[in-house]
Amino acid sequence: MSEPRQILVTSALPYANGSIHLGHMLEYVQTDMWVRYQKLRGNQCTYVCADDAHGSAIMLRAEKEGITPEQLIAGVQAEHCSDFADFLVEFDNFHSTHAEENRELSNQIYLKLRDAGHIATRSITQYFDPDKQMFLADRFIKGTCPKCAAEDQYGDNCEKCGATYAPTELKNPKSAISGATPVLKDSQHFFFKLPDFQAMLQQWTRSGTLQDAVANKIAEWLDAGLQEWDISRDAPYFGFEIPDEPGKYFYVWLDAPIGYMASFKNLCARRPELDFDAYWNKDSKAELYHFIGKDIVNFHALFWPAMLEGAGYRKPTGINVHGYLTVNGSKMSKSRGTFIKARTYLDHLAPEYLRYYYASKLSRGVDDLDLNLEDFVQKVNSDLIGKVVNIASRCAGFIQKGNDGVMVAGDAAPELTEAFLAAAPSIADAYEARDFARAMRETMALADRANAWIADKAPWSLAKQEGKQDEVQAICAQGINLFRQLVIFLKPVLPVLAADAEAFLNVAPLTWDDHKTRLSNHQLNPFKALMNRIDPAKVEAMTAASKEDLAASQTSVVTGNGELSKDPLSPEIEFDTFAAVDLRVALILKAEAVEGADKLLRLTLDIGDEQRNVFSGIKSAYPDPAKLEGRLTMMIANLKPRKMRFGISEGMVMAAGPGGEEIYLLSPDSGAKPGQRIK
Ligand code: MSP
Ligand code: ZN
Repeated sequence: MSEPRQILVTSALPYANGSIHLGHMLEYVQTDMWVRYQKLRGNQCTYVCADDAHGSAIMLRAEKEGITPEQLIAGVQAEHCSDFADFLVEFDNFHSTHAEENRELSNQIYLKLRDAGHIATRSITQYFDPDKQMFLADRFIKGTCPKCAAEDQYGDNCEKCGATYAPTELKNPKSAISGATPVLKDSQHFFFKLPDFQAMLQQWTRSGTLQDAVANKIAEWLDAGLQEWDISRDAPYFGFEIPDEPGKYFYVWLDAPIGYMASFKNLCARRPELDFDAYWNKDSKAELYHFIGKDIVNFHALFWPAMLEGAGYRKPTGINVHGYLTVNGSKMSKSRGTFIKARTYLDHLAPEYLRYYYASKLSRGVDDLDLNLEDFVQKVNSDLIGKVVNIASRCAGFIQKGNDGVMVAGDAAPELTEAFLAAAPSIADAYEARDFARAMRETMALADRANAWIADKAPWSLAKQEGKQDEVQAICAQGINLFRQLVIFLKPVLPVLAADAEAFLNVAPLTWDDHKTRLSNHQLNPFKALMNRIDPAKVEAMTAASKEDLAASQTSVVTGNGELSKDPLSPEIEFDTFAAVDLRVALILKAEAVEGADKLLRLTLDIGDEQRNVFSGIKSAYPDPAKLEGRLTMMIANLKPRKMRFGISEGMVMAAGPGGEEIYLLSPDSGAKPGQRIK
């Protein structure tokens, strides 16, 4: 037997300012399945994670909620931990980047980099909010696009025309935090000299540490030449102050990956068998893998190995990158109810359904993965209930009734026993290579063979015949043995099913090598349903609830990405200005797409005494316009008619939201009558 491997595994540290959704969960489930496989093989595998707790988004959100950042991140951490636990994601440790271990390690790494000459300082000029007395990151500045004059664009790129630019090029810039006009101000910044590591990175990124597609992408960046990386931020900032530099803080992405080390260090303090240095020293024999999404590759495959190298630590063995989750073929959408929080899913469905579905679609590539909700129901029901659990439920009753629950000895189908044994190394290789889809395919092919064999033997008909009891018992014992092997092959994906099966089988927790043995003359426990079919109504209830989540979250200023979701308020107006606007309840008589216009709907509105023709740019949120017919909304009835390419627009309907799918047409309470004026 080979020595057990020592493996340290991480998933990306989720931001501590938002809820975990099913996109995040793809990563944590993927990592957890790989870790569970390694543990099942008897390797010393340790899985650590933490909340990524620093940065201005978290500081501003806490301020907005009237709590301290510490209070905010403590609350979010509790929520994250219960989401992960309920999805059966089993960390050895879940820590926080806002922790003493992380402060010490961050300081130490920074000082080593500084003393080795890898830190540069220079002054940079940036926008500064004179009201908030803080420098503004690009996403906290809004203004008019210098290229196409679209208003209300972020400081680094225009959503209308796609232009990228420096915030200083933006016309009429405003602070998205206070609404104040920002001023330019100089400040001293600290830079990590990434170009010092060009040669090392060229070699390291081509040494089998990355998937080919990722290595190719990185090669493009390397060929373009590396830039120094700005690792400092000015106060006020929620983070760690840089040693010897009062008022200067580490940028959140500097201490975030160090959070992997800090979480492990925190764990070592209570696990004597784990030695921090043995895992992180330059000559460490342990393996180190980071599982991440494709959006954060530069941080993990360039900055992080360079920091580790510069500070005298080992580098990762592999960076395992996955693609993005889409739902029903599109980006997760709040308005369609497919932006599903982990908790909303758990309120309606069992975690193992999704774990299995993810496993069945995850291979080693970086392609996006689609959660098609119909396919999800169909696949889980057909594979897990129809194929796997079915074997046990078909066989258990006969053993219970015919032989007091004792499995007889013998091998009723040596060719199947042989085939299951022979398939194990290939399934193991698939797990090791993170090709979960292949592991599931090969396991389900075995389940198909077992079911076909049982169907062919038809113990249910034999049981009705005289003198066939021994044969029935032999068939069913074989069926249960095959079921037991399938459970072992699925255990990394379905830990609860495995535990329930172990209870039914009356065996100690199964390990991978147990697939080589069989149960004979063995007492079973009474069979209980191991898993129920997914009821499609539950899936619908989940998407409906996700739309409600959205309504509740609209009040928050900062979204999960740390981006502002709310526009600053406009300057106040006099009552007369308001009173000049004629707002009316309108009944939508007709709603139709406009040929040749991507965004427009043509609405025919009833406002009591007259009908109006209004063009409205809301098509992206209402792809099926006929559904709007018969609905009440509100319109501005005295807006000067506007001649458009498609006709004259006689007024404007009222809707809220940032755009795209997130446009919400306003409606009065039921009972309002078309034409009634809003006062
Ligand atoms: N805090 C950083 C990571 C720091 S690691 C030192 C971060 N946090 S995150 O909460 O935005 O994302 C956490 C992980 O979830 C990332 O690996 C990210 O790629 C992944 N995902 C976020 N949305 C996702 C999907 N829709 N689909 C798949 N993975 C997604 O980035
Ligand atoms: Zn533009």
